[in-house]
Amino acid sequence: MKAVTGKDMGDIDKYSIKDIGIPGIVLMENAALKVVKHINGYLTKGPRLPIQTVIIAGKGNNAGDAFAVARHLWVEDNKIELYCLFGKETFTGDAKLNFDILEAMGVPIKFIGVNSSTEELCNDIEKAELVLDGIFGTGFRGEIQGIIKQVADIVNRHSRYTISIDIASGIESATGRISESCIKADKTVTFQLPKIGQLVYPGAEYTGELAVESIGMPGKAVDYVTETTTWVDRNFVRSLIPSRKAEYNKGNCGKVAVISGSTGMAGSGCLTAKACLRAGSGLVYLAVPSNLINVYQCVVPEAVVIDLKDSQGVIRGESIDTIAELLAKCDVAAIGPGLSSEKSLYNIIRRLAEAINLPVILDADALNVIAENTDIFGAFKNQVVITPHPGEMARLTGLDIPYIQSNRIEVAKKYAALWGVTVVLKGARTIIADKSGHIYINSTGNPGMATAGSGDSLTGIIASLTGQGAQTTFAAVAGVYLHGLAGDIAARSKGEYGLTAMDIVENIPSAILETI
Ligand code: APR
Repeated sequence: MKAVTGKDMGDIDKYSIKDIGIPGIVLMENAALKVVKHINGYLTKGPRLPIQTVIIAGKGNNAGDAFAVARHLWVEDNKIELYCLFGKETFTGDAKLNFDILEAMGVPIKFIGVNSSTEELCNDIEKAELVLDGIFGTGFRGEIQGIIKQVADIVNRHSRYTISIDIASGIESATGRISESCIKADKTVTFQLPKIGQLVYPGAEYTGELAVESIGMPGKAVDYVTETTTWVDRNFVRSLIPSRKAEYNKGNCGKVAVISGSTGMAGSGCLTAKACLRAGSGLVYLAVPSNLINVYQCVVPEAVVIDLKDSQGVIRGESIDTIAELLAKCDVAAIGPGLSSEKSLYNIIRRLAEAINLPVILDADALNVIAENTDIFGAFKNQVVITPHPGEMARLTGLDIPYIQSNRIEVAKKYAALWGVTVVLKGARTIIADKSGHIYINSTGNPGMATAGSGDSLTGIIASLTGQGAQTTFAAVAGVYLHGLAGDIAARSKGEYGLTAMDIVENIPSAILETI
Protein backbone atom coordinates (compact mmCIF):
# COMPACT_ATOMS: atom_id res chain seq x y z
CA MET A 1 0.00 0.00 0.00
CA LYS A 2 1.21 3.47 -0.80
CA ALA A 3 2.35 5.53 2.23
CA VAL A 4 2.40 9.33 2.04
CA THR A 5 3.50 12.52 3.74
CA GLY A 6 0.99 15.09 4.92
CA LYS A 7 1.91 17.21 1.92
CA ASP A 8 1.16 14.33 -0.48
CA MET A 9 -2.18 13.80 1.24
CA GLY A 10 -2.93 17.52 0.94
CA ASP A 11 -2.27 17.29 -2.83
CA ILE A 12 -4.57 14.26 -3.10
CA ASP A 13 -7.23 16.16 -1.11
CA LYS A 14 -6.93 19.18 -3.39
CA TYR A 15 -7.14 17.04 -6.53
CA SER A 16 -10.26 15.28 -5.19
CA ILE A 17 -11.90 18.59 -4.36
CA LYS A 18 -10.81 20.84 -7.26
CA ASP A 19 -10.31 18.48 -10.21
CA ILE A 20 -12.80 15.74 -9.43
CA GLY A 21 -15.31 17.95 -7.66
CA ILE A 22 -15.94 16.09 -4.41
CA PRO A 23 -16.67 18.88 -1.88
CA GLY A 24 -14.22 18.98 1.03
CA ILE A 25 -17.10 18.89 3.48
CA VAL A 26 -18.15 15.51 2.03
CA LEU A 27 -14.66 14.09 2.59
CA MET A 28 -14.69 15.49 6.14
CA GLU A 29 -18.08 13.91 6.78
CA ASN A 30 -16.88 10.54 5.43
CA ALA A 31 -13.78 10.77 7.63
CA ALA A 32 -15.88 11.58 10.69
CA LEU A 33 -18.21 8.64 10.09
CA LYS A 34 -15.25 6.26 9.96
CA VAL A 35 -13.98 7.63 13.28
CA VAL A 36 -17.49 7.23 14.75
CA LYS A 37 -17.47 3.58 13.64
CA HIS A 38 -14.29 2.96 15.65
CA ILE A 39 -15.59 4.89 18.65
CA ASN A 40 -18.81 2.86 18.68
CA GLY A 41 -16.76 -0.34 18.33
CA TYR A 42 -14.80 0.62 21.44
CA LEU A 43 -17.79 1.88 23.44
CA THR A 44 -19.64 -1.42 23.08
CA LYS A 45 -16.63 -3.19 24.62
CA GLY A 46 -15.57 -0.63 27.22
CA PRO A 47 -16.91 0.21 30.70
CA ARG A 48 -20.02 2.41 31.13
CA LEU A 49 -18.79 5.69 32.57
CA PRO A 50 -20.68 9.01 32.98
CA ILE A 51 -18.85 10.63 30.08
CA GLN A 52 -18.46 8.43 27.06
CA THR A 53 -16.11 10.59 25.04
CA VAL A 54 -13.98 13.65 25.74
CA ILE A 55 -13.25 15.32 22.41
CA ILE A 56 -10.33 17.73 22.16
CA ALA A 57 -10.08 19.98 19.11
CA GLY A 58 -7.21 22.12 17.82
CA LYS A 59 -7.74 24.67 15.04
CA GLY A 60 -7.13 23.10 11.62
CA ASN A 61 -9.10 20.58 9.57
CA ASN A 62 -8.27 17.86 12.08
CA ALA A 63 -10.41 19.90 14.48
CA GLY A 64 -13.08 20.05 11.76
CA ASP A 65 -13.13 16.24 11.70
CA ALA A 66 -13.46 16.24 15.49
CA PHE A 67 -16.44 18.66 15.31
CA ALA A 68 -18.21 16.42 12.79
CA VAL A 69 -17.59 13.39 15.03
CA ALA A 70 -18.97 15.36 18.00
CA ARG A 71 -22.17 16.07 16.01
CA HIS A 72 -22.73 12.40 15.20
CA LEU A 73 -22.07 11.25 18.76
CA TRP A 74 -24.39 13.99 20.08
CA VAL A 75 -27.30 13.14 17.81
CA GLU A 76 -26.89 9.48 18.75
CA ASP A 77 -27.33 10.49 22.43
CA ASN A 78 -23.80 9.76 23.55
CA LYS A 79 -22.50 11.76 26.49
CA ILE A 80 -19.68 13.93 25.20
CA GLU A 81 -17.52 16.75 26.52
CA LEU A 82 -16.06 18.89 23.76
CA TYR A 83 -12.98 20.98 24.49
CA CYS A 84 -11.48 23.60 22.20
CA LEU A 85 -7.89 24.73 22.64
CA PHE A 86 -8.25 27.82 20.40
CA GLY A 87 -10.88 30.57 20.17
CA LYS A 88 -13.67 30.17 17.62
CA GLU A 89 -12.32 33.06 15.51
CA THR A 90 -9.44 30.75 14.49
CA PHE A 91 -11.66 28.24 12.66
CA THR A 92 -11.88 28.54 8.88
CA GLY A 93 -13.40 26.67 5.95
CA ASP A 94 -15.00 23.28 6.62
CA ALA A 95 -13.80 23.27 10.23
CA LYS A 96 -15.71 26.55 10.83
CA LEU A 97 -18.78 25.15 9.07
CA ASN A 98 -18.81 22.12 11.37
CA PHE A 99 -18.15 24.29 14.42
CA ASP A 100 -21.04 26.62 13.52
CA ILE A 101 -23.38 23.63 13.16
CA LEU A 102 -22.46 22.46 16.67
CA GLU A 103 -23.15 25.91 18.07
CA ALA A 104 -26.48 26.07 16.25
CA MET A 105 -27.38 22.63 17.63
CA GLY A 106 -26.70 23.91 21.15
CA VAL A 107 -23.88 21.49 21.89
CA PRO A 108 -22.02 22.75 25.00
CA ILE A 109 -18.44 23.70 24.11
CA LYS A 110 -15.67 24.28 26.61
CA PHE A 111 -12.85 26.66 25.71
CA ILE A 112 -9.76 26.05 27.82
CA GLY A 113 -8.71 29.25 29.57
CA VAL A 114 -12.09 30.95 28.82
CA ASN A 115 -15.03 28.98 30.25
CA SER A 116 -13.05 25.95 31.47
CA SER A 117 -9.64 24.90 32.71
CA THR A 118 -7.10 22.10 32.44
CA GLU A 119 -8.26 20.93 35.92
CA GLU A 120 -11.79 20.51 34.59
CA LEU A 121 -10.47 18.65 31.55
CA CYS A 122 -8.50 16.37 33.82
CA ASN A 123 -11.62 15.59 35.90
CA ASP A 124 -13.70 14.96 32.79
CA ILE A 125 -11.08 12.62 31.33
CA GLU A 126 -11.04 10.62 34.55
CA LYS A 127 -14.82 10.14 34.26
CA ALA A 128 -14.66 9.27 30.55
CA GLU A 129 -14.42 6.03 28.65
CA LEU A 130 -12.28 7.47 25.89
CA VAL A 131 -10.56 10.59 24.62
CA LEU A 132 -10.71 11.63 20.99
CA ASP A 133 -7.62 13.53 19.86
CA GLY A 134 -8.43 16.12 17.19
CA ILE A 135 -5.73 18.58 18.21
CA PHE A 136 -3.29 18.36 15.30
CA GLY A 137 -3.38 16.28 12.13
CA THR A 138 -0.93 16.14 9.28
CA GLY A 139 -0.38 19.91 9.50
CA PHE A 140 1.67 19.57 12.70
CA ARG A 141 5.30 20.74 12.77
CA GLY A 142 7.85 21.39 15.51
CA GLU A 143 6.94 21.27 19.19
CA ILE A 144 3.73 21.18 21.18
CA GLN A 145 4.05 24.00 23.67
CA GLY A 146 2.26 25.97 26.40
CA ILE A 147 -1.27 25.02 27.31
CA ILE A 148 -1.46 22.38 24.55
CA LYS A 149 1.56 20.63 26.05
CA GLN A 150 -0.25 20.57 29.41
CA VAL A 151 -3.32 19.12 27.71
CA ALA A 152 -1.30 16.42 25.89
CA ASP A 153 0.38 15.42 29.15
CA ILE A 154 -3.00 15.24 30.94
CA VAL A 155 -4.40 13.02 28.17
CA ASN A 156 -1.39 10.69 28.30
CA ARG A 157 -1.56 10.44 32.08
CA HIS A 158 -5.33 10.10 32.61
CA SER A 159 -7.04 8.75 29.49
CA ARG A 160 -8.30 5.16 29.65
CA TYR A 161 -8.20 4.84 25.88
CA THR A 162 -7.22 7.44 23.28
CA ILE A 163 -8.24 7.48 19.63
CA SER A 164 -6.35 9.93 17.40
CA ILE A 165 -7.94 11.33 14.28
CA ASP A 166 -5.71 10.73 11.24
CA ILE A 167 -2.39 10.97 13.14
CA ALA A 168 -1.55 11.32 16.82
CA SER A 169 -1.00 14.99 17.70
CA GLY A 170 2.72 15.68 17.90
CA ILE A 171 3.94 13.30 15.17
CA GLU A 172 5.39 14.87 12.01
CA SER A 173 3.71 13.05 9.16
CA ALA A 174 6.70 12.98 6.80
CA THR A 175 9.38 11.71 9.16
CA GLY A 176 7.94 10.10 12.30
CA ARG A 177 9.75 12.66 14.43
CA ILE A 178 7.76 13.45 17.55
CA SER A 179 7.40 16.54 19.65
CA GLU A 180 8.81 16.25 23.17
CA SER A 181 5.18 16.14 24.23
CA CYS A 182 3.04 13.95 21.97
CA ILE A 183 -0.33 12.25 22.29
CA LYS A 184 0.18 8.52 22.81
CA ALA A 185 -2.77 6.98 21.00
CA ASP A 186 -4.14 3.51 21.64
CA LYS A 187 -5.62 3.62 18.16
CA THR A 188 -5.28 5.94 15.18
CA VAL A 189 -7.92 6.10 12.48
CA THR A 190 -6.09 7.41 9.45
CA PHE A 191 -7.73 8.42 6.20
CA GLN A 192 -7.30 6.78 2.81
CA LEU A 193 -3.55 6.07 3.05
CA PRO A 194 -1.10 5.51 5.92
CA LYS A 195 1.19 8.44 6.69
CA ILE A 196 4.92 7.70 6.68
CA GLY A 197 5.39 9.30 10.10
CA GLN A 198 3.08 6.84 11.79
CA LEU A 199 4.82 3.81 10.27
CA VAL A 200 8.39 4.54 11.38
CA TYR A 201 9.69 5.01 14.91
CA PRO A 202 9.33 6.95 17.11
CA GLY A 203 6.00 7.99 15.51
CA ALA A 204 4.90 4.36 15.24
CA GLU A 205 5.07 3.95 19.00
CA TYR A 206 2.65 6.88 19.49
CA THR A 207 0.23 5.64 16.83
CA GLY A 208 -1.08 2.56 18.63
CA GLU A 209 -3.20 0.24 16.51
CA LEU A 210 -3.49 1.73 13.03
CA ALA A 211 -6.76 1.58 11.09
CA VAL A 212 -6.57 2.86 7.50
CA GLU A 213 -10.06 3.90 6.38
CA SER A 214 -11.21 4.90 2.94
CA ILE A 215 -13.05 8.25 2.89
CA GLY A 216 -14.44 7.87 -0.61
CA MET A 217 -11.56 9.22 -2.69
CA PRO A 218 -11.50 7.68 -6.15
CA GLY A 219 -8.41 5.75 -7.34
CA LYS A 220 -7.67 8.54 -9.81
CA ALA A 221 -7.15 10.95 -6.91
CA VAL A 222 -5.03 8.51 -4.91
CA ASP A 223 -2.89 7.89 -8.02
CA TYR A 224 -2.40 11.64 -8.47
CA VAL A 225 0.65 11.47 -6.21
CA THR A 226 3.40 9.17 -7.48
CA GLU A 227 4.20 6.33 -5.13
CA THR A 228 7.67 6.68 -3.64
CA THR A 229 7.05 4.89 -0.36
CA THR A 230 5.34 1.54 0.11
CA TRP A 231 3.89 0.14 3.32
CA VAL A 232 4.81 -3.52 3.00
CA ASP A 233 1.74 -5.53 3.90
CA ARG A 234 0.47 -8.99 3.02
CA ASN A 235 -1.28 -7.89 -0.17
CA PHE A 236 1.90 -6.37 -1.52
CA VAL A 237 4.17 -9.27 -0.57
CA ARG A 238 1.95 -12.05 -1.87
CA SER A 239 2.50 -10.74 -5.40
CA LEU A 240 6.30 -10.85 -4.94
CA ILE A 241 6.75 -14.46 -3.86
CA PRO A 242 7.90 -16.56 -6.84
CA SER A 243 5.39 -19.23 -7.82
CA ARG A 244 6.31 -22.95 -7.86
CA LYS A 245 5.12 -24.84 -10.89
CA ALA A 246 4.00 -28.45 -10.66
CA GLU A 247 6.74 -29.66 -13.00
CA TYR A 248 9.62 -27.97 -11.11
CA ASN A 249 12.61 -29.95 -9.85
CA LYS A 250 15.28 -28.76 -7.43
CA GLY A 251 17.22 -27.20 -10.28
CA ASN A 252 14.36 -24.78 -10.98
CA CYS A 253 14.03 -23.58 -7.39
CA GLY A 254 17.25 -21.64 -7.11
CA LYS A 255 20.86 -22.60 -6.50
CA VAL A 256 22.26 -20.54 -3.65
CA ALA A 257 25.87 -20.26 -2.54
CA VAL A 258 26.47 -19.27 1.06
CA ILE A 259 30.06 -18.14 1.67
CA SER A 260 30.43 -18.14 5.41
CA GLY A 261 32.04 -19.31 8.59
CA SER A 262 35.10 -18.92 10.76
CA THR A 263 36.13 -20.58 13.99
CA GLY A 264 33.59 -19.73 16.68
CA MET A 265 31.04 -18.43 14.15
CA ALA A 266 29.93 -21.62 12.40
CA GLY A 267 26.33 -21.16 13.51
CA SER A 268 25.77 -18.10 11.29
CA GLY A 269 26.22 -19.99 8.03
CA CYS A 270 24.06 -22.86 9.34
CA LEU A 271 21.22 -20.43 10.04
CA THR A 272 21.60 -18.79 6.62
CA ALA A 273 21.63 -22.12 4.80
CA LYS A 274 18.68 -23.48 6.78
CA ALA A 275 16.73 -20.27 6.12
CA CYS A 276 17.42 -20.67 2.37
CA LEU A 277 16.05 -24.20 2.47
CA ARG A 278 13.01 -23.25 4.56
CA ALA A 279 12.25 -20.41 2.14
CA GLY A 280 12.18 -22.84 -0.76
CA SER A 281 15.67 -23.07 -2.31
CA GLY A 282 16.26 -26.14 -4.45
CA LEU A 283 20.00 -26.40 -3.83
CA VAL A 284 22.16 -24.77 -1.19
CA TYR A 285 25.95 -24.84 -1.35
CA LEU A 286 27.78 -23.94 1.83
CA ALA A 287 31.35 -22.84 1.16
CA VAL A 288 33.17 -22.88 4.51
CA PRO A 289 36.68 -23.09 6.01
CA SER A 290 38.14 -26.60 6.01
CA ASN A 291 38.37 -26.88 9.77
CA LEU A 292 34.58 -26.49 10.12
CA ILE A 293 33.43 -28.76 7.36
CA ASN A 294 32.19 -31.54 9.66
CA VAL A 295 30.10 -29.12 11.68
CA TYR A 296 28.23 -27.94 8.60
CA GLN A 297 27.74 -31.44 7.22
CA CYS A 298 26.11 -32.55 10.45
CA VAL A 299 24.01 -29.47 11.14
CA VAL A 300 22.77 -28.85 7.58
CA PRO A 301 22.62 -32.30 5.96
CA GLU A 302 20.54 -30.93 3.05
CA ALA A 303 23.37 -28.59 1.93
CA VAL A 304 26.31 -29.42 -0.33
CA VAL A 305 29.36 -28.38 1.69
CA ILE A 306 32.35 -26.96 -0.19
CA ASP A 307 35.78 -27.14 1.41
CA LEU A 308 37.73 -23.84 1.43
CA LYS A 309 41.36 -23.65 2.53
CA ASP A 310 41.67 -21.88 5.84
CA SER A 311 44.25 -20.28 8.04
CA GLN A 312 43.34 -20.55 11.73
CA GLY A 313 39.70 -20.98 10.83
CA VAL A 314 39.46 -18.04 8.38
CA ILE A 315 39.06 -18.53 4.60
CA ARG A 316 42.37 -18.02 2.73
CA GLY A 317 43.01 -16.17 -0.53
CA GLU A 318 43.79 -19.30 -2.55
CA SER A 319 40.15 -20.38 -2.15
CA ILE A 320 39.12 -17.71 -4.63
CA ASP A 321 39.17 -20.09 -7.62
CA THR A 322 37.06 -22.67 -5.76
CA ILE A 323 34.54 -20.00 -4.83
CA ALA A 324 34.44 -18.53 -8.36
CA GLU A 325 33.93 -22.04 -9.80
CA LEU A 326 31.05 -22.61 -7.36
CA LEU A 327 29.43 -19.27 -8.11
CA ALA A 328 29.54 -19.94 -11.83
CA LYS A 329 26.86 -22.61 -11.36
CA CYS A 330 24.73 -20.68 -8.83
CA ASP A 331 21.91 -18.14 -9.22
CA VAL A 332 22.82 -16.01 -6.21
CA ALA A 333 25.47 -15.70 -3.49
CA ALA A 334 25.11 -14.78 0.16
CA ILE A 335 28.47 -13.59 1.40
CA GLY A 336 29.31 -12.76 4.97
CA PRO A 337 27.54 -14.66 7.75
CA GLY A 338 30.14 -15.46 10.40
CA LEU A 339 33.01 -14.83 7.99
CA SER A 340 35.05 -12.96 10.67
CA SER A 341 36.20 -9.40 10.23
CA GLU A 342 39.76 -10.41 9.32
CA LYS A 343 41.06 -7.66 7.01
CA SER A 344 42.54 -10.20 4.57
CA LEU A 345 38.98 -11.13 3.54
CA TYR A 346 38.66 -7.78 1.78
CA ASN A 347 40.86 -8.96 -1.09
CA ILE A 348 38.80 -12.14 -1.51
CA ILE A 349 35.56 -10.16 -1.73
CA ARG A 350 37.18 -7.61 -4.09
CA ARG A 351 38.41 -10.33 -6.45
CA LEU A 352 35.07 -12.11 -6.29
CA ALA A 353 33.26 -8.88 -7.18
CA GLU A 354 35.42 -8.57 -10.28
CA ALA A 355 35.11 -12.26 -11.23
CA ILE A 356 31.41 -12.97 -10.87
CA ASN A 357 28.22 -11.78 -12.47
CA LEU A 358 25.32 -12.80 -10.26
CA PRO A 359 23.23 -11.08 -7.60
CA VAL A 360 24.84 -11.00 -4.17
CA ILE A 361 23.57 -10.45 -0.67
CA LEU A 362 26.30 -8.94 1.50
CA ASP A 363 25.79 -9.43 5.20
CA ALA A 364 27.38 -8.64 8.52
CA ASP A 365 31.08 -9.50 8.33
CA ALA A 366 31.31 -8.84 4.61
CA LEU A 367 30.05 -5.32 5.36
CA ASN A 368 32.50 -4.84 8.22
CA VAL A 369 35.37 -5.98 6.04
CA ILE A 370 34.52 -3.56 3.24
CA ALA A 371 33.39 -0.66 5.48
CA GLU A 372 36.49 1.39 4.76
CA ASN A 373 36.48 0.66 1.02
CA THR A 374 32.87 1.00 0.03
CA ASP A 375 33.80 1.85 -3.57
CA ILE A 376 33.96 -1.95 -3.92
CA PHE A 377 30.19 -1.80 -4.53
CA GLY A 378 31.00 -0.36 -7.93
CA ALA A 379 33.01 -3.48 -8.81
CA PHE A 380 30.04 -5.85 -8.62
CA LYS A 381 28.59 -6.44 -12.07
CA ASN A 382 25.14 -7.52 -10.90
CA GLN A 383 22.62 -6.40 -8.26
CA VAL A 384 23.86 -6.03 -4.70
CA VAL A 385 21.72 -6.16 -1.56
CA ILE A 386 23.26 -5.12 1.75
CA THR A 387 21.62 -5.88 5.07
CA PRO A 388 23.20 -3.66 7.74
CA HIS A 389 21.89 -3.18 11.25
CA PRO A 390 22.34 0.40 12.56
CA GLY A 391 25.85 -0.38 13.92
CA GLU A 392 26.99 -1.71 10.54
CA MET A 393 25.34 1.25 8.81
CA ALA A 394 27.33 3.54 11.11
CA ARG A 395 30.56 1.81 10.04
CA LEU A 396 29.59 2.02 6.37
CA THR A 397 28.60 5.67 6.43
CA GLY A 398 30.73 7.16 9.22
CA LEU A 399 27.52 8.54 10.78
CA ASP A 400 26.67 7.92 14.41
CA ILE A 401 23.96 5.46 15.42
CA PRO A 402 21.59 8.03 17.04
CA TYR A 403 21.66 10.07 13.83
CA ILE A 404 20.97 6.99 11.72
CA GLN A 405 18.09 5.92 13.96
CA SER A 406 16.48 9.38 13.81
CA ASN A 407 16.82 9.56 10.03
CA ARG A 408 16.45 5.95 8.91
CA ILE A 409 14.62 6.64 5.66
CA GLU A 410 16.92 9.43 4.56
CA VAL A 411 20.12 7.52 5.43
CA ALA A 412 19.05 4.33 3.65
CA LYS A 413 17.80 6.27 0.62
CA LYS A 414 20.99 8.29 0.19
CA TYR A 415 23.27 5.29 0.59
CA ALA A 416 21.29 3.18 -1.89
CA ALA A 417 21.46 5.98 -4.47
CA LEU A 418 25.14 6.71 -3.82
CA TRP A 419 26.37 3.14 -4.37
CA GLY A 420 23.62 1.76 -6.59
CA VAL A 421 22.71 -1.00 -4.13
CA THR A 422 19.56 -2.12 -2.33
CA VAL A 423 19.87 -1.22 1.35
CA VAL A 424 18.01 -3.22 4.00
CA LEU A 425 18.39 -1.09 7.13
CA LYS A 426 17.37 -3.51 9.84
CA GLY A 427 15.55 -2.64 13.05
CA ALA A 428 11.97 -2.10 14.19
CA ARG A 429 10.11 -1.29 10.94
CA THR A 430 13.01 -2.26 8.69
CA ILE A 431 13.54 0.15 5.80
CA ILE A 432 14.38 -1.13 2.33
CA ALA A 433 15.70 1.48 -0.12
CA ASP A 434 16.42 0.78 -3.76
CA LYS A 435 18.83 2.72 -5.92
CA SER A 436 16.03 4.64 -7.66
CA GLY A 437 14.92 6.21 -4.35
CA HIS A 438 11.89 4.02 -3.67
CA ILE A 439 11.37 3.23 0.01
CA TYR A 440 9.62 0.20 1.50
CA ILE A 441 8.62 0.13 5.18
CA ASN A 442 8.09 -3.32 6.68
CA SER A 443 5.05 -4.03 8.82
CA THR A 444 5.98 -7.33 10.51
CA GLY A 445 8.29 -8.39 13.34
CA ASN A 446 8.57 -8.03 17.10
CA PRO A 447 11.22 -7.23 19.73
CA GLY A 448 11.81 -10.93 20.39
CA MET A 449 13.64 -11.01 17.06
CA ALA A 450 16.42 -8.86 18.48
CA THR A 451 18.50 -11.96 19.06
CA ALA A 452 21.79 -13.40 17.81
CA GLY A 453 21.53 -15.04 14.40
CA SER A 454 18.29 -13.32 13.46
CA GLY A 455 20.08 -11.37 10.69
CA ASP A 456 21.76 -14.52 9.36
CA SER A 457 18.35 -16.07 8.81
CA LEU A 458 17.14 -12.93 7.00
CA THR A 459 20.10 -13.11 4.60
CA GLY A 460 19.12 -16.69 3.82
CA ILE A 461 15.51 -15.81 3.01
CA ILE A 462 16.52 -12.94 0.71
CA ALA A 463 19.08 -15.11 -1.08
CA SER A 464 16.54 -17.90 -1.44
CA LEU A 465 13.85 -15.68 -2.98
CA THR A 466 16.42 -14.14 -5.34
CA GLY A 467 17.50 -17.63 -6.40
CA GLN A 468 13.89 -18.55 -7.06
CA GLY A 469 13.63 -15.68 -9.51
CA ALA A 470 12.48 -12.63 -7.57
CA GLN A 471 14.10 -9.33 -8.58
CA THR A 472 16.63 -8.53 -5.82
CA THR A 473 14.85 -5.54 -4.26
CA PHE A 474 11.55 -7.44 -4.25
CA ALA A 475 13.34 -10.45 -2.75
CA ALA A 476 14.65 -8.13 -0.04
CA VAL A 477 11.19 -6.63 0.58
CA ALA A 478 9.42 -10.01 0.66
CA GLY A 479 12.29 -11.54 2.65
CA VAL A 480 12.10 -8.87 5.33
CA TYR A 481 8.31 -9.27 5.56
CA LEU A 482 8.43 -13.09 5.77
CA HIS A 483 11.28 -12.98 8.28
CA GLY A 484 9.23 -10.65 10.51
CA LEU A 485 6.11 -12.74 10.09
CA ALA A 486 8.03 -15.95 10.92
CA GLY A 487 9.16 -14.18 14.13
CA ASP A 488 5.56 -13.11 14.85
CA ILE A 489 4.31 -16.66 14.36
CA ALA A 490 7.02 -17.98 16.69
CA ALA A 491 6.06 -15.33 19.27
CA ARG A 492 2.37 -16.34 19.12
CA SER A 493 3.16 -19.69 20.74
CA LYS A 494 6.38 -18.95 22.63
CA GLY A 495 6.18 -15.27 23.45
CA GLU A 496 8.90 -12.77 22.61
CA TYR A 497 11.30 -13.68 25.43
CA GLY A 498 13.60 -16.53 24.58
CA LEU A 499 12.73 -16.53 20.89
CA THR A 500 15.79 -17.79 18.98
CA ALA A 501 16.96 -17.38 15.41
CA MET A 502 16.21 -21.04 14.77
CA ASP A 503 12.58 -20.45 15.87
CA ILE A 504 12.40 -17.84 13.10
CA VAL A 505 13.90 -20.26 10.57
CA GLU A 506 11.49 -23.06 11.53
CA ASN A 507 8.50 -20.75 11.01
CA ILE A 508 9.45 -19.49 7.54
CA PRO A 509 7.24 -22.08 5.77
CA SER A 510 4.22 -21.05 7.92
CA ALA A 511 4.94 -17.40 7.14
CA ILE A 512 4.91 -18.15 3.41
CA LEU A 513 1.68 -20.14 3.79
CA GLU A 514 0.01 -17.24 5.65
CA THR A 515 1.09 -14.81 2.95
CA ILE A 516 0.42 -16.45 -0.40
N1 APR B 1 2.06 24.42 17.52
C1 APR B 1 0.93 25.12 17.30
N2 APR B 1 0.25 25.09 16.15
C2 APR B 1 0.74 24.32 15.16
C3 APR B 1 1.92 23.55 15.30
C4 APR B 1 2.60 23.63 16.54
N3 APR B 1 3.74 22.97 16.78
N4 APR B 1 2.14 22.89 14.16
C5 APR B 1 1.15 23.22 13.32
N5 APR B 1 0.31 24.09 13.92
C6 APR B 1 -0.89 24.70 13.38
C7 APR B 1 -0.81 24.99 11.90
O1 APR B 1 -0.28 26.26 11.67
C8 APR B 1 -2.26 24.87 11.48
O2 APR B 1 -2.95 26.04 11.76
O3 APR B 1 -1.98 23.79 13.53
C9 APR B 1 -2.78 23.76 12.36
C10 APR B 1 -2.64 22.40 11.70
O4 APR B 1 -3.82 21.79 11.78
P1 APR B 1 -4.03 20.34 11.13
O5 APR B 1 -5.43 20.00 11.40
O6 APR B 1 -2.98 19.45 11.59
O7 APR B 1 -3.72 20.59 9.60
P2 APR B 1 -4.67 20.87 8.37
O8 APR B 1 -3.79 20.97 7.19
O9 APR B 1 -5.61 21.98 8.64
O10 APR B 1 -5.57 19.57 8.28
C11 APR B 1 -5.05 18.29 8.00
O11 APR B 1 -7.30 17.58 8.19
O12 APR B 1 -7.99 16.21 6.51
C12 APR B 1 -7.95 16.38 7.89
O13 APR B 1 -7.48 15.13 9.83
C13 APR B 1 -7.09 15.31 8.51
O14 APR B 1 -4.80 15.34 9.33
C14 APR B 1 -5.71 15.90 8.40
C15 APR B 1 -5.98 17.36 8.68
